[in-house]
Amino acid sequence: MSYQAAQELESLAAKYASEAIKLDSQGSYPQAILMYQKAIEMLMKLINLYPNYQLNQIYMERAQAYKRRIAEIQRIRGLNDGEAEEAPTTSGGRVETLRANFDDLVMKEKPDVKFDQVIGLDEAKRALQDAIIYPNKRPDLFPLGWPRGILLYGPPGCGKTMLAAATAAEIDAVFLSVDAASIMSKWLGEAEKNVARLFQQARDISQQEGKPVIIFIDEVDSLFGTRSQEVGGEIRVRNQFLKETDGISEKGKKTPVYILAATNKPWSLDPPFLRRFEKRIYVGLPVMAARKKMFELYTEPLSLASDVKLEELAKLTEGYTGSDIKDIVQAVQLNVVRELFESGEALKPNSKPRPINMNDFKTVIKQRKPSVSPEMVMAYLKWSESFKAL
Ligand SMILES: Nc1ncnc2c1ncn2[C@@H]1O[C@H](COP(=O)(O)OP(=O)(O)OP(=O)(O)O)[C@@H](O)[C@H]1O
Ligand SMILES: [Mg+2]
Repeated sequence: MSYQAAQELESLAAKYASEAIKLDSQGSYPQAILMYQKAIEMLMKLINLYPNYQLNQIYMERAQAYKRRIAEIQRIRGLNDGEAEEAPTTSGGRVETLRANFDDLVMKEKPDVKFDQVIGLDEAKRALQDAIIYPNKRPDLFPLGWPRGILLYGPPGCGKTMLAAATAAEIDAVFLSVDAASIMSKWLGEAEKNVARLFQQARDISQQEGKPVIIFIDEVDSLFGTRSQEVGGEIRVRNQFLKETDGISEKGKKTPVYILAATNKPWSLDPPFLRRFEKRIYVGLPVMAARKKMFELYTEPLSLASDVKLEELAKLTEGYTGSDIKDIVQAVQLNVVRELFESGEALKPNSKPRPINMNDFKTVIKQRKPSVSPEMVMAYLKWSESFKAL
């Protein structure tokens, strides 16, 4: 089975599927069923030929969705015999759930997290200031331009997403957030077109609203990871993406569109992608001072006993992520609240849990290991030695 043949199967599956969806929404059910069946057949062939292929899970889900749709059509047609008028509207609505909805996958947000709510990460913040915030405030001071593609990498739960959103808020940008994994899975057969649409939308918004736009691609490794086996669809999508990224730096100056990408697996990114993402910023574990601030922030609304020393908690949580620390504080609070419920007191109005003491924290910390291992941290540092670029 050649690579080309796989590519062909994939595009046939996509072709049949979009034809099926079109017929389905027009109410041409028997033909739609036929096309769904052909799409399923192609997907199953693909899966059987490459049993270990990464996208198989996605192909399987698609095939199952088409099967469910066939069953649904058959059910409606069976029930509504003679009431053909009603069927298209009911089922017409359902077709939309099969068609990957562009607007559902690209989230246009107005982020409300502030830059200074991101704790620590001074180096990362400075890099984003240099690359986005300052150029955006005074483009005239940057005659040589500025980097368009910025990669945030590091262990999970350390603030990559938060930092991206905060950057957008800082320059009052429109934040278009897409998950790279869903580009491939939900946009099967339409991914390439939708990538083009995403960038077009960014340019349009920027022009119409007169605001900068930040495109945030989360989990970018799922699109640009180096893999042994691939099917054509992915390559086309990647190339489209790279082309669009280049387009942004060319037309750059007039349309302020920035691309931020995030990943937990920087080592799996391929060179053509890395070349375009000139700034590569490490978002690492919080240092001692940052952990202390996090404890301050998260315990602020809670009632603490006088023996609680936030400094010491920060010392005890070396190696923990920001998100771990939040979890710890939540767990501690939950424990005292549970006590209150178990004592029956919680049902009395205005009753309060007892103040949280140092021992409560220590118990939870002992039970909860850091979500990032020292080996993982080493792997990030090692990758940084070769690829970090501030
Ligand atoms: N530096 C930080 N300052 C303040 N809060 C933080 C920080 N890091 C993590 N947090 C807390 O942890 C949560 C998770 O952080 P975030 O989603 O930004 O992590 P991430 O690096 O994007 O993780 P992932 O790789 O899993 O997407 C945040 O919503 C915030 O509550
Ligand atoms: Mg994230």
